[in-house]
Amino acid sequence: MSSNKPDSSKGSTTGWGAPAVSDRNSLSVGPDGPILLHDVHFLEQMAHFNREKVPERQPHAKGAGAFGVFEVTEDVTAYTKAALFQPGCKTEMLARFSTVAGEAGSPDTWRDVRGFSLKFYTSEGNYDLVGNNTPIFFVRDPMKFPHFIRSQKRLPDSGLRDNHMQWDFWTLNPESAHQVTYLMGDRGLPRTWRHMNGYGSHTYMWVNAQGERFWVKYHFHTNQGMECFTNQEAKDMAGMDADYHRRDLFEAIAGGNHPSWTLFVQIMPYAEAKTYRFNPFDLTKVWPHSDYPLIKVGVMTLNRNPENFFAEIEQAAFSPGNTVPGIGLSPDKMLLGRAFAYNDAQRNRIGTNFHQLPVNRPRVSVNTYMFDGHMNYEHSGNQPVYAPNSQGRSWSDMTGKVDESWESDGDMVRQAYTLRPDDDDFSQAGALVRDVFDDAQRERLIETVAGALLGGVRSPVLERAFDYWKSIDPDVGRRIEEKVRSGSAAEPAAGMSEA
Ligand code: HEM
Repeated sequence: MSSNKPDSSKGSTTGWGAPAVSDRNSLSVGPDGPILLHDVHFLEQMAHFNREKVPERQPHAKGAGAFGVFEVTEDVTAYTKAALFQPGCKTEMLARFSTVAGEAGSPDTWRDVRGFSLKFYTSEGNYDLVGNNTPIFFVRDPMKFPHFIRSQKRLPDSGLRDNHMQWDFWTLNPESAHQVTYLMGDRGLPRTWRHMNGYGSHTYMWVNAQGERFWVKYHFHTNQGMECFTNQEAKDMAGMDADYHRRDLFEAIAGGNHPSWTLFVQIMPYAEAKTYRFNPFDLTKVWPHSDYPLIKVGVMTLNRNPENFFAEIEQAAFSPGNTVPGIGLSPDKMLLGRAFAYNDAQRNRIGTNFHQLPVNRPRVSVNTYMFDGHMNYEHSGNQPVYAPNSQGRSWSDMTGKVDESWESDGDMVRQAYTLRPDDDDFSQAGALVRDVFDDAQRERLIETVAGALLGGVRSPVLERAFDYWKSIDPDVGRRIEEKVRSGSAAEPAAGMSEA
């Protein structure tokens, strides 16, 4: 981080470096008289104060992060030529963890999906992997994303969060079933950020040095062990320490207790995607490990706290569109929508030249024709501002087939992916409930869902919610309905509306 460490041997200065006369008393006509408009230092302080906040992130506003290193311990050169994944390579990186729906001051322990954003400062430019602590997502078309986030945020009239609105959206979009099951299960309340896994969630592309293409999914397994809060623990913690996760990470790293995650990938040969039994680009599905086993890649360790939260965390800008050679996107429509959304949000949230800020700047030299704009301070001097040019400034000129690419053809349409034999909204959610959760986890799931439904969900959404859960698992759905009808669930968990 570039910083301007104040010289504590002298008094303060104005923004222009001249001695500031006083940070305690404004200039007035006599001790009891009016203050004076030419007290420039006072005016500068007031005006800057009015502008010292930037808008919070639209989703994922509450979070924190730390710096670290990613070290490749295995050999995955058969799958990617990306420099950061070459054997033995160590890459400086930044991680930011977050909740999705809450605002910047909201409690860390509300039930929610957690963001898991990574920025790798690689020798080929920055690579960002902007994932979550879940391997799936609520919707599979980016057109639905703003509607989804609005339904999780606040009502237009009261400004309150609202269970009815959340379940209205989910039950009208049954592809949410898998993610909602995950969220209502134990992993919806991670004990700390150190005790949760991270996932790239989408399917990405890897390309090796021979130009062979593979589809890839990323899994970061916590080496601290997976630990979750119960509803009661999370609720108590939300009241006691709203910043519990932020504090935990900062204090662990400050105390030399450096959390780490092991990266595994699942690899699907390029051609198999065309015939696999469900669409492997559908973000509401996981790939069974029996078909695509985990392959170890390396270890990420967080070892350095930010020195300045605003400069290094609030101004950090992650984007799934930031890729490097050997890594590509995929036909996942959500991912393609995200490739636009993030840098656009950051131009608004931080400013046009946000990529020049120290935390976002790549560690390699930049030769971009993006030019001028608000707050630009990395200029190309008197170099030509257009390409091609005959004054010797280089430009790029790749033509023809792109390495990280796939074939596509057909009419332009507005419709969901073409259905394959195993493409349905409920079977993976059902398998999670029946095959992954044990009896105690199922019981807690039923308690949590019933508690949420009793927290203000009304007809006809309530009946739709019962059907939704019966489609996931008939027995679980029946037990949820019984609990709600008898009004016997515990009070709603922290973070859920009690409207
Ligand atoms: C089409 C779907 C999506 C859109 C349009 C979208 C849009 C956004 C936007 C605009 C931000 C704020 C960025 C900023 O101000 O810096 C954001 C943050 C974030 N999103 Fe998404 N998002 C989508 C789906 C997803 C999915 C599927 C995941 C995870 C797999 C995800 C994970 C995150 C994370 C972790 C952050 C916080 C980034 C940070 O730490 O700064 N989003 N999203």
